[in-house]
Amino acid sequence: MPRGYLPDEYTKGQKVYDAKIVGRLLKYAKPYIGLMIIAFFLLIMSSAIEVYLPTLNQKAIDKHIVHNNILLYFGSSDTLRDRLIDRYGGGMFIAGQDSFIINGNILDKSDLKRAQDLGAVLPVKFLIIDFKNTPVDLRSKVKKIIDSNDRLFIKLRGKAGETLEAAPSKNFFFPSKVSKKAPDYALSYGNKMKLPREELKVLMSGDIRGISKIALKYFILLIISLVILFFQIYTLNKVAQNTMHDVRVDIVSHLQTLSLKYFDKNPVGRLVTRATNDVNTLSEMFTSVVVNLLKDLIVVVGVGIILCLMNLKLALILFIIMPLFFLVTTFLGNKFRSAYRELRKSLAILNARISEDFAGVRIIQSFIQEINAFIRFDKTNMNYFKSSMRILLVNAIFRPIISLFRYFGVALILWYGGGQVIQESMSLGMLVIYLAYLEMFFRPIIGISEKYAIMQSAMASSERIFLLLDTEPDIKTKENAYLPDEDQIRGKVEFKNVWFAYEDNNWVLKDVSFVVEPSGTIALVGATGVGKTTITSLISRLYDVQRGQILVDDIDIRNWDVNTLRRTISIVLQDVFLFSTNINENIRLYDEKIEDHSVKSASQVVNADEFIDQLPKGFEEPVAERGATLSAGQRQLISFARALVFKPKILILDEATANIDTHTEKLIQDAISVMLSSRTSIVVAHRLSTIRKANLILVMHHGRIVERGTHEELMQKKGYYSKLYKLQFQSNIVA
Ligand SMILES: Nc1ncnc2c1ncn2[C@@H]1O[C@H](COP(=O)(O)OP(=O)(O)O)[C@@H](O)[C@H]1O
Ligand SMILES: [Mg+2]
Repeated sequence: MPRGYLPDEYTKGQKVYDAKIVGRLLKYAKPYIGLMIIAFFLLIMSSAIEVYLPTLNQKAIDKHIVHNNILLYFGSSDTLRDRLIDRYGGGMFIAGQDSFIINGNILDKSDLKRAQDLGAVLPVKFLIIDFKNTPVDLRSKVKKIIDSNDRLFIKLRGKAGETLEAAPSKNFFFPSKVSKKAPDYALSYGNKMKLPREELKVLMSGDIRGISKIALKYFILLIISLVILFFQIYTLNKVAQNTMHDVRVDIVSHLQTLSLKYFDKNPVGRLVTRATNDVNTLSEMFTSVVVNLLKDLIVVVGVGIILCLMNLKLALILFIIMPLFFLVTTFLGNKFRSAYRELRKSLAILNARISEDFAGVRIIQSFIQEINAFIRFDKTNMNYFKSSMRILLVNAIFRPIISLFRYFGVALILWYGGGQVIQESMSLGMLVIYLAYLEMFFRPIIGISEKYAIMQSAMASSERIFLLLDTEPDIKTKENAYLPDEDQIRGKVEFKNVWFAYEDNNWVLKDVSFVVEPSGTIALVGATGVGKTTITSLISRLYDVQRGQILVDDIDIRNWDVNTLRRTISIVLQDVFLFSTNINENIRLYDEKIEDHSVKSASQVVNADEFIDQLPKGFEEPVAERGATLSAGQRQLISFARALVFKPKILILDEATANIDTHTEKLIQDAISVMLSSRTSIVVAHRLSTIRKANLILVMHHGRIVERGTHEELMQKKGYYSKLYKLQFQSNIVA
């Protein structure tokens, strides 16, 4: 893997949770704490509804669909009768001498068993007809049916007692209430068959209404939870987006305070990633993981507790498979994590490759390297493909295994619970609710690996973001800095024994000293890479020197207000950077204080107006990205105008005329003279016409000033300069 393609952050940062990072993230969310509380509250509400819904199923089944009313007959056992009446009297309805109708779900398992052993439970089930629950308009009809079939019905004659202890294992959610009055009739399932369908329907109208009511309740709760969900998603995303917005603002404004040194070390692509992708990962974590995690936690814990309370034995079955399940999840989760890491890594490389190839498309095409570039791309692409396939594979193994566990759990519950239902020690509704909760219990665990991966990359992203935010700007204005008025500035520049290195002790400038008086002009001459551009960057304090001093107006630039210092200096570089806006804005750089006429007159001075006026929209002509639609010379003219419009006291031209043809050069030659005459100028040029006019020429070699003087003096010296001059003079003739 070529170094540089892979930002080092992709090779480390495997943390899933880091309290310090989370704490800092929360600080960003703090201004939106109110919204967060609302979101949290909504979350609890929607989770509660989710947990509540299955109980409606149970109610519908146990109360209205499967009637578990049994007939107890205590021919011989008074003690059992008395005990039962003592405990369940409020739910026992007198059917005759020593016989009672009771809902079997109320009975405790042991009581039921005893009654069964004594032969007190008759193997018949009953429907109960209660006029109270019969719709008023149907009551007379019901009475008529009963009257005309009175042999089939058992008339109930009141309650056996006043107390009622419902067995919790069978009736967890709806402990039966003691009804004020006993129901009116009981009808055995056997006799039920003897009635015509129409009549049955009338008799059961209470249950039918009950089911409709439950269905309606279900529907209303669904609507409510929809509304809650809407607000929950809305509030939460609002918090997330606001937070992300703030983080992004912080990143960009912080980046702008950092010195060029930082930007030298961090490629633009990486910084862009910081402000966009990394921030998005955070938001993803917020909206999809944190929330779901919270909700899942509520559901898993809540449902887990309910399951235990409902039926400890069934719950134990669950807890037997849980450890196994976690083992598998952890194992595959690890595989998942490394696969995701691979994926992110290869994606980063792929992105870098693509963007570089397209940025360099001009070179690639002109050197006919398309095929090679494509082959290289294809290799990277293949790697990405392979990592994607690995994720797919892990997923393809993981999901079925999770499903297996889930259905294994379902099967166990069906096997054990089904037996219980048949033995009447559990109601059917309870089994149904148990299965529903089982589903709920497993659901959060299914997505846990993805969430884990998101959490992990979010932690890594935040770590990178905070690392960026923690980078102290190494160049900033001191307290009580020198802050002169504009007309106070004279523009004297002095280097005093300056040593400078971009890195460590790799000295680029060695003991450089010179003085430029206000309005004076010096020229820097020397081969490529001797440090000319470096000198120009140091004056604007884009970097700080390691040794020595740079003074402007006899004040160390480290004591200047940085903005004032930089405003004093204009720089024209060989590589002109144009922004994708119009020409006007490119000259004044969005500075509202600079008016249109200033832009125009600056352009006139450098003769840029000539070509600008010929453009269809003149100064309003849009400029493509990096000024791709303009010629190098035209871009240079714009940068001259830009330098001038800011009325600098100090002007720096760094090989600024290198891109300009002879015709254009003639155009701006006069302009340059005008520009140089009225201000301090530092010129890096190989056009001798400019250099000749300089008050002082500094000849540089290996980071040192090896000769200094005027053109004539240096020529007489017959040293380095005269050699250089002759070389160039000759080459000019040859050209
Ligand atoms: N941002 C930078 N980081 C590290 N080294 C740099 C940087 N810019 C320039 N250099 C190195 O500093 C030396 C001087 O560069 P520069 O001042 O641009 O030379 P010149 O303008 O005279 O051609 C060169 O050896 C170059 O490789
Ligand atoms: Mg240079």
